[in-house]
Amino acid sequence: MENSRACYVLVFVMAAFASGVPNSDALDTSHEQETKVMEITKQSYIVYMDKSMKPEHFSLHQHWYTSLIDEVSGSNSDPAAMLYTYDTVTHGFAAKLTSTEAQAMENTDGCLAVFPDYVYRVHTTRTPDFLGLSSSHGLWPLSHYADDIIVGVLDTGIWPESKSFSDQGLTQVPARWKGECEMGTEFNASHCNNKLIGARFFLKGYEAKYGHVDEMENYRSPRDEGGHGTHTSSTAAGAEVPGSSLLGFAAGTARGIATKARLAVYKVCWPEECLSSDLLAGMEAAISDGVDLLSLSISDSRNLPYYKDAIAIGALGAIEKGVFVSCAAGNAGPIPSKIFNTAPWITTVGASTIDREFPAPVVLGNGKNYRGSSLYKGKTLGNGQLPLIYGKSASSNETAKFCLAGSLDSNRVSGKIVLCDLGGGEGTAEMGLVVRQAGGAGMIQANRLVDGEDLWTDCHFLPATKVDFKSGIEIKAYINRTKNPTATIKAEGATVVGKTRAPVVASFSSRGPNPLVPEILKPDLIAPGVNVLAAWSGHVSPTGLTSDKRRVDYNIISGTSMACPHVTGIAALILAVHSAWTPAAIKSALMTSSVPFDHSKRLISESVTALPADAFAIGAGHVNPSAALDPGLVYDADFDDYVSFLCSLNYTRSQIHILTRKASSCTRIHSQQPGDLNYPSFSVVFKPLNLVRALRRTVTNVGGAPCVYEVSMESPPGVNIIVEPRTLVFKEQNEKASYTVRFESKTASHNKSSGRQEFGQIWWKCVKGGTQVVRSPVAIVWE
Ligand SMILES: *[C@@H]1O[C@H](CO)[C@@H](O)[C@H](O)[C@H]1NC(C)=O
Ligand SMILES: *[C@@H]1O[C@H](CO)[C@@H](O)[C@H](O)[C@H]1NC(C)=O
Ligand SMILES: *[C@@H]1O[C@H](CO)[C@@H](O)[C@H](O)[C@H]1NC(C)=O
Ligand SMILES: *[C@@H]1O[C@H](CO)[C@@H](O)[C@H](O)[C@H]1NC(C)=O
Ligand SMILES: *[C@@H]1O[C@H](CO)[C@@H](O)[C@H](O)[C@H]1NC(C)=O
Repeated sequence: MENSRACYVLVFVMAAFASGVPNSDALDTSHEQETKVMEITKQSYIVYMDKSMKPEHFSLHQHWYTSLIDEVSGSNSDPAAMLYTYDTVTHGFAAKLTSTEAQAMENTDGCLAVFPDYVYRVHTTRTPDFLGLSSSHGLWPLSHYADDIIVGVLDTGIWPESKSFSDQGLTQVPARWKGECEMGTEFNASHCNNKLIGARFFLKGYEAKYGHVDEMENYRSPRDEGGHGTHTSSTAAGAEVPGSSLLGFAAGTARGIATKARLAVYKVCWPEECLSSDLLAGMEAAISDGVDLLSLSISDSRNLPYYKDAIAIGALGAIEKGVFVSCAAGNAGPIPSKIFNTAPWITTVGASTIDREFPAPVVLGNGKNYRGSSLYKGKTLGNGQLPLIYGKSASSNETAKFCLAGSLDSNRVSGKIVLCDLGGGEGTAEMGLVVRQAGGAGMIQANRLVDGEDLWTDCHFLPATKVDFKSGIEIKAYINRTKNPTATIKAEGATVVGKTRAPVVASFSSRGPNPLVPEILKPDLIAPGVNVLAAWSGHVSPTGLTSDKRRVDYNIISGTSMACPHVTGIAALILAVHSAWTPAAIKSALMTSSVPFDHSKRLISESVTALPADAFAIGAGHVNPSAALDPGLVYDADFDDYVSFLCSLNYTRSQIHILTRKASSCTRIHSQQPGDLNYPSFSVVFKPLNLVRALRRTVTNVGGAPCVYEVSMESPPGVNIIVEPRTLVFKEQNEKASYTVRFESKTASHNKSSGRQEFGQIWWKCVKGGTQVVRSPVAIVWE
């Protein structure tokens, strides 16, 4: 099956990395313009309803919703206008309406809000060893590899033939499972087994926007067109597959994290876009089917408030049913505050490196060597030096330095190695294609300043490598001052493990402060998301390019998309051991046990600056599965706590109703502030007349034994932290105790500190009865 969209997911991921920031603003404007043009044509909207207002003569809420569509459409009424009705994670429906009809809908009795169908996007094996998981002891054997746990993945679908989804050695499907294997293009019930226990697809919202999805364009079934969903699903819960590699790179046993957990996939991305109406429908189905956890490597890119954000709405519905939800933080780093999926009931995951590299150094004519990284497999350039040219000099066209399509003059680049800058907005494999089409022999890609030393690596079909920002500058200077500059690329297909400092925060990983609610620290934690090997769609090339005819079973890609399913898998293992824990307790365990240090016991660093990374980059730290199993204390929270949190945001009754499916009264807890949520981390915002904040926290003893905890802290230089009491005594399991933390700015005048950020931490240590350490990061901002 050949088609032009085949590789869009990966392509988008690469392009997003290359340009640093997904081009969200451009997307926004085109969308708004579209909305204006569509006055008479219909587009999809989500209509959120107060179900308690249903008139009695409608026996079912569906009848009421249909009658409302008829009412607002009048003679324009279309029986196909209704796309979905929602009843599990929210109340309401998605429908195709004109903008006039949508306005009329907003004024009908019982309607809480009408929002357009927003666009979401996917963010694009040594990892288990790197995370300290072992088959001889600890979390894997204790959890029985999560064999009774069902992981739901909302993504681009699945390639069911991958060995990662073999059910060898697995018992029957858990009896409580209510899901199914939906039939469609090249997919039927026989593609499911005791590993892949459910597979569905949702495309009514996508089709309302783009028209009928042709079978030549994408599988009209749960089958994965681009590979992204296959990759994330196998990372969370793929079986053990010995002898896996990408073209020989990263060879070894590929394993998901929860190797025996069951998978249910919900294809909601097609593949470049995921519509909120399809996402909500997928989340509803997953929860009704009986998943235990949900993994979403997807986000919107405009930071919608939680009551407009399908993922936040669906996730709160999931949490109420006890379903843990983890999401990717986004690939918009290192720019501050471009972080997504920030609702406190979601576990938000940033990306970090592992200690595995694919070295492909550059050697210049002057004998100088530069570290490079590549997943190129094929004929090498050998030791012979080839002429070297900077793309910028290969044409008069400004875009030539980025090696964009049509920009290179083949007379000038033919037979040469071409140096190209990242950041032109094109995927890195596409840049290689441009160089090759112009007759280039090889390609060196230079990081931008914001990419720092990150050598997240791409698959190429010509000898190519990527160098860090500083090396790029030096190579350009060499080209500039040398009459006949030459180079070679030693892309020899090596995989090197354990030699590099890791984990390091990936440059692209999205950073706090949380733009929606600065008092909730995000991301929550980081996990491996750079150069991750996992299963791939069997009919698409590793570069994602249509012109690349190679086919692979496993692929190596990078993104917070890859980090999220690691945390989902670890949460599945923890849930298998602690079946009574709430999603908030699991999240707390993951956060308070995570580590701020790398494998050489230095603070985790930033790849761009090589300086220690702060809590806006790493949250609580790098996930530490074995310690998460026995966190000692947890910061628990239930649905009502999140309702109080929504009240503290001053959301209107209707807005809260959309998220909670019921009318909530906020009066009782009106004095609350967002930071009062019982969260496992602290984010304090000092304002000009508010330089003291006092927060209360409650911890629950899950350590199983009596224990005396004592508090320690590392105060930020400009802040006094006072914790009261300093000792907490627990006599029994599940006992709760509360404490208050006072944060006092040392500078009396806010003006001097305005814009400053400082960091610290607070930890409770079991000093009698155990050894657990319960650590919370502290972030302070003087607004
Ligand atoms: C389901 O798909 C398999 C594999 O493609 C095929 O062999 C089988 O005949 C199909 N079954 C049905 C009922 O269509
Ligand atoms: C420069 O290259 C771009 C493609 O990268 C192309 O769209 C544009 O037309 C070119 N401009 C000129 C002046 O050739
Ligand atoms: C090469 O050097 C000259 C003079 O030092 C400078 O003006 C020019 O910008 C440089 N060109 C490149 C491509 O670095
Ligand atoms: C909510 O409103 C109260 C009262 O006007 C105000 O003090 C508080 O800062 C507001 N909270 C947020 C998060 O906007
Ligand atoms: C802080 O700065 C603002 C303007 O920058 C000024 O109006 C105000 O008086 C200053 N406040 C103090 C306490 O210095």
